[in-house]
Amino acid sequence: MEFTELVKKRYSCKKYDSRKVEREKLNAILEAGRLAPTAKNTQEQHIYVLESEENLAKVDKASPCRYGAPTVLAVAYDKNQIYTYPGGKRTSDSEDAVIVATHLMLAAANEGVDSCWLNCFDPEMIEKDLNIPENEEIVMLLDLGYAAEGAGPLPNHENRKPLSETVTYM
Ligand SMILES: Cc1cc2nc3c(=O)[nH]c(=O)nc-3n(C[C@H](O)[C@H](O)[C@H](O)COP(=O)(O)O)c2cc1C
Repeated sequence: MEFTELVKKRYSCKKYDSRKVEREKLNAILEAGRLAPTAKNTQEQHIYVLESEENLAKVDKASPCRYGAPTVLAVAYDKNQIYTYPGGKRTSDSEDAVIVATHLMLAAANEGVDSCWLNCFDPEMIEKDLNIPENEEIVMLLDLGYAAEGAGPLPNHENRKPLSETVTYM
């Protein structure tokens, strides 16, 4: 899909039907995440693909926001691999994982797969229930699937501030 059209078409889907995400499409989405840039090319992301009933139930326990999605990606990063920027005042922290997650979300739209970015979850609960290693932190969850009939963007989807409010030419 053409990029400008893609960013306009993508929306947060809050109701999925039971259609599974095809393996080929999931691979293309994951590949776009693999190609994301990271600070100093550290690539400290770790993506968990959750599709079993057991693991989806763990998502439901930690978040009210799966909306019936048949696939959820949990995007984590390795706390031992973060990059400390010169000067030592800041680190890449969750930044790299968020860039990877953005690639995943846009690639899903490119594959015609609907998605919703989730931060409304209990991180300690899900990390414990999924046995995520101590050195990793889950930054976000990405619901993936196909919109149920009648589902679509929420009314506020089109509501974006004008550039004059968010951009300053200096
Ligand atoms: C960082 C972030 C966290 C979000 N967390 C949630 C969430 O926990 N649950 C949810 O239903 N939507 C969540 N969303 C989706 C936003 O509510 C949605 O992107 C926003 O309202 C704009 O709507 P649109 O994506 O349809 O344009 C999140 C989005 C972002 C970028």
